[in-house]
Amino acid sequence: MSSPAKYSKPQIALHWGMALLFFVSFVSHEGMKDAWRALVRTGEPAMSVGAAVHVWVGVLLLGLVAVRIVTRLLKGAPEAVETGNKLLDLSAKIAHLALYGVMILVPLSGALAWFGGVRDASEVHEVMFTAGLTLVGLHIVAALYHQFILKDGLMQRMR
Ligand code: HEM
Ligand code: HEM
Repeated sequence: MSSPAKYSKPQIALHWGMALLFFVSFVSHEGMKDAWRALVRTGEPAMSVGAAVHVWVGVLLLGLVAVRIVTRLLKGAPEAVETGNKLLDLSAKIAHLALYGVMILVPLSGALAWFGGVRDASEVHEVMFTAGLTLVGLHIVAALYHQFILKDGLMQRMR
């Protein structure tokens, strides 16, 4: 696979655009919980703007992650930056892979519960979301560590 100096413009737009959409999904989840509870209890969803935003932004994210993976396979990615600590370098690779995993599994499990009526998928959705939030937190701490401690210009590759 090729090794460009930085991420391509479409990859950068996808990274930041999707981060924003994940935030929108997060802030709309209360309405979704109400709609889901009503659906489970009465068979009718209590739809609200929040629930509709949650569903359709999530579906959009599922489409975008597919585009992102294809772009990644076609365009490659810059060579991983080395921190001098093999364990940290390996953790970064695993964390990026795991982030792709949750970017697929969070909306997929939500869609299975909502459109497919698979009740247990809603449990998976919650667990995956919590794992995703933890990973994103670590990811941001890692980005700050590169920016302010290592000062290795890593952020420039995603701008
Ligand atoms: C303020 C929030 C964020 C910051 C500062 C940030 C920063 C970065 C930076 C600097 C990189 C490039 C790393 C490198 O060159 O090795 C990167 C890559 C990545 N980010 Fe983020 N990110 C943020 C939010 C997110 C979110 C919310 C997600 C997913 C839910 C995410 C998923 C990823 C993934 C999967 C990669 C690896 C991309 C690849 O190699 O294909 N990021 N991020
Ligand atoms: C990809 C972005 C998404 C994020 C970040 C996200 C996040 C969340 C969060 C935080 C909750 C509340 C869980 C809790 O109470 O602990 C939730 C609930 C829910 N979401 Fe999503 N979601 C996403 C996509 C989707 C999609 C695409 C669908 C359906 C098409 C969906 C359907 C649901 C349902 C049915 C619930 C209620 C589950 C329950 O309370 O047991 N979500 N979501």
